Amino acid sequence: MTTGIAVQEGFLEGEDPERGLMDKIVIEGGRPLSGVVRLSGAKNAALPLMAASLLTDQPLVLDGVPRLADIATMSALLAQHGVAVDHQPGDPVTNGGARLSLTAARIADTTAPYDLVRKMRASVLVLGPLVARCGEARVSLPGGCAIGARPVDLHLSGLEQLGATIDLDGGYIHARAPHGLKGATIVFPKVSVGATENLLMAAALAEGETVLVNAAREPEIGDLAACLTAMGARIEGIGSDRLTVQGRPALGGATHRVVVDRIETGTFAMAAAITGGKLELIGARPAHVEAMITVLGEAGIAFQETEDGLTVDAGGARPLGVDVMTEPFPGFPTDLQAQFMALMCVAEGASMITETIFENRFMHVPELARMGANINIHGHTALVRGVPQLTGAPVMATDLRASISLVMAGLAARGETVLNRVYHLDRGYERVEEKLAACGAAIRRVREG
Ligand code: EPZ
Repeated sequence: MTTGIAVQEGFLEGEDPERGLMDKIVIEGGRPLSGVVRLSGAKNAALPLMAASLLTDQPLVLDGVPRLADIATMSALLAQHGVAVDHQPGDPVTNGGARLSLTAARIADTTAPYDLVRKMRASVLVLGPLVARCGEARVSLPGGCAIGARPVDLHLSGLEQLGATIDLDGGYIHARAPHGLKGATIVFPKVSVGATENLLMAAALAEGETVLVNAAREPEIGDLAACLTAMGARIEGIGSDRLTVQGRPALGGATHRVVVDRIETGTFAMAAAITGGKLELIGARPAHVEAMITVLGEAGIAFQETEDGLTVDAGGARPLGVDVMTEPFPGFPTDLQAQFMALMCVAEGASMITETIFENRFMHVPELARMGANINIHGHTALVRGVPQLTGAPVMATDLRASISLVMAGLAARGETVLNRVYHLDRGYERVEEKLAACGAAIRRVREG
């Protein structure tokens, strides 16, 4: 399949990326998970990697791309900028993920319209590459979102420091650098994954040296830097909080495999733990989930590194209550906070969970409470007092990680849980109900309408 919005459909087998709008997930809880899970490529790595295709007129080939609604949205956005998108579905048995070839031979349009940006905030990642390559870009300003205000001021001030002029007009960011971007030292006042990615891509085509100080260190950034290097970029300090980039006049094509999803890894580890079960996680990269392994280890969950990844074993017992604070990598990730809270709902003892990255990321709490969880929120901290057993209930999700935490609670609960608004789940978990069912979960998707 080639080019355009049709690609968007290819990812979801001929259906609309918002197909999950009316779907429900029905879970009969109480069965320990047991078996093997093949992990997918990381959504949060694939999205910036796809945006990097705008930096070159040569093909960028990405392997291991997960089949997700957000990937479909990014494909549609790139197609609208004039990128030819070719999608080869992956082998479902090995779960190698899709191969996506992206060729931005010519940028047809430098505007990222509201209709696509409002669907997915990561659309803002086209800003840096477009200004760097075309000297101009208009990108709809992403609004607030369910988990917090999520401003993009760090992206914009970084681009200004690289010499771009930024105007905000009619809800759009208008960035201009008609004579190209110029290298600079940018000190981030706060760690931001997206701003680091946007500026890393922009710096790759800027004139001279750019130094990013207090850069985010998430593995997705290392993955982007590795891909940019394969495209001809010169980057030092990969994996550290100081990235030095020698800008090049042009970059070339490359073939790159998307790093395995560390958040999916942690999610399945905790799904095993909440059911007292045991899973083998194929493809897991222990170095990317060290904080999670340490915290779950304190909770009594055993991990073992294998040739292919990691096994996790809860030994049929309830976890112990452990305190956690979310932090930028290598700290405990905010994207695992909701899942960890679900786990702590059935712990022996209490757990204090503090969210430091986003100001409103506790929306799963009232839904978990409907399933019998005992949680009190004080500002940015939730005090969870473990109960021996959750009970199934109809629940509603507000964002991706909240959705999966409710699925996990449903796996452990007595009786039936029905999760509404499944489209949140489809944004970030590839075939999650199939993967869980293959490990013994009684879980099914019910399509309505
Ligand atoms: C990325 O979002 C991830 N998204 C998020 O994944 C993840 O939760 C987050 O990083 C933190 O790890 C993608 O990679 C596509 P940030 P991003 O910029 O880049 C503030 C998921 O569930 N900030 O690191 O948008 C911001 O408000 C999700 O998959 C500014 O103040 O996150 C937040 O409080 C959701 N100004 C903090 O920094 C800015 O200009 C960290 O945000 C930018 C960010």
